[in-house]
Amino acid sequence: PENVGILAIETAFPSLFVDQTELEQFDGVSSGKYTLGLGQDKMGICSDREDINSLCLTVVQNLMEHYDIKYSDIGRLEVGTETIVDKSKSVKSVLMQLFEPHGVTDIDGIDTTNACYGGTAALFNAIAWVESSDWNRRYAIVVAADIAVYAAGPARPTGGAGAVAMLIGPNAPLVFDRHVRSTYMKHAYDFYKPDLTCEYPKVDGKLSIECYLNALDVCYQLYCKRAAKRDSKEPLINLDHFDYLLFHTPFCKLVQKSIGRLGFNDFLRTSPDLIPQLYPGLDNFKNVELNNSYFDKDLEKAFTTITKGTFEKKTKPSLLMANQIGNMYTASLYGGLVSLLINQNIEQIAGSKIGLFSYGSGLASTMYSITVTKDSNDNSQLNKLISNLKNVKTKLEQRLKVSPDKFISMLELRQQHLHKAPFKPVGIVEDLFPGTYYLVEIDEMYRRHYRRH
Ligand code: ACO
Repeated sequence: PENVGILAIETAFPSLFVDQTELEQFDGVSSGKYTLGLGQDKMGICSDREDINSLCLTVVQNLMEHYDIKYSDIGRLEVGTETIVDKSKSVKSVLMQLFEPHGVTDIDGIDTTNACYGGTAALFNAIAWVESSDWNRRYAIVVAADIAVYAAGPARPTGGAGAVAMLIGPNAPLVFDRHVRSTYMKHAYDFYKPDLTCEYPKVDGKLSIECYLNALDVCYQLYCKRAAKRDSKEPLINLDHFDYLLFHTPFCKLVQKSIGRLGFNDFLRTSPDLIPQLYPGLDNFKNVELNNSYFDKDLEKAFTTITKGTFEKKTKPSLLMANQIGNMYTASLYGGLVSLLINQNIEQIAGSKIGLFSYGSGLASTMYSITVTKDSNDNSQLNKLISNLKNVKTKLEQRLKVSPDKFISMLELRQQHLHKAPFKPVGIVEDLFPGTYYLVEIDEMYRRHYRRH
């Protein structure tokens, strides 16, 4: 099959949020630390009515309804998540409740976990399936979803929650480029969840940033090499190769620094005689090594400054959901894709090349790219895909603000009730967006029961 890619996208996020300026005051940190320092304005939060299963039920059901997809047309469904509730039992198996009433049970795929990378791994499985001898002409659905909550402290404002579901198949408007994907995987304890009685990760914040930037360097270099080999017309691949660049976004400021980092990579690959002309005044960074420069403030400032225009044009449009909801872990990068599609005109999107960098602590990372179809007329699939996402901005604005006080008591409640059975949640159902699945109860056998609002 040709032009394998994304045919449809749906997203779900909590209807409640906490304001980061209010959280700064509440936490007693200097004003601007979360908003200007991290680049975060609001953080999506779930009451005890929502868990990973309910988020995924909502996003898949909405995808099926909004695009009028036949249940029997789905041959693979898989979930990337690091939010674990039933340990041995997958979220995918929970989602089968949506298909069973239609007599559909022949669906491949299961859950994939490695921090924020699981959604990308699930996506690659789906692509491989569509391209394989087992493919039976049906579509795949990939779900990336998480609830990100941190213990009190510096990581807490980098939480979030949300889900993205993507319909994968041939002849898509967003096509995955072949022969360019580049991966970097390595053992690291930068972020992990060893305590199964607690929702919060163990996180070494500084190390996680170093690992992220290191993975970005390596993936970018390999991507550039592969893309140059593939498109021999374009021997030197640099930032100009992409119309848009999307990143896993733990917080928006890291992404702005990442563009600067790629600019530094381009600089290091520039022939010395061109440096004075292309990079005036930056000569002194010529001998800086990638591995020794993750926290070099002068270098960071110099290269975020010269790449500011690139950031504004090629990346900033992708940061809407990250800024308004926070880190959705596996869904973060795909929330970036949704944000880009709703923030640009279809004429700008059509025919563009989108670079994507996926990172999951532990660590697993990949850079790959998408080429968007040029067909942007009213009846095109691209138009349909983008039109369906138009309500995202309205929904972001319709959310209800929760005070930091209340947010903390909701977190405490979540923590107290984690793995408690039987359990009846107390969160207000009317606060949820219409069409949201919610937890009705956990019975004495720890079985979770859901209903739709
Ligand atoms: N006004 C403006 N900016 C401010 C202010 C202020 N009042 N106060 C601080 N800042 C700036 C700082 O200068 C810093 O910016 P810089 O890095 O450009 O210098 C930024 O705000 C953050 O301040 P720090 O003191 O560096 O923050 P801290 O160390 O307390 O926490 C961290 C940041 C480590 C990222 C923490 O939030 C964390 O652990 N998050 C979770 C881990 C994470 O997301 N890692 C990323 C990859 S892994 C993943 O996706 C989970």
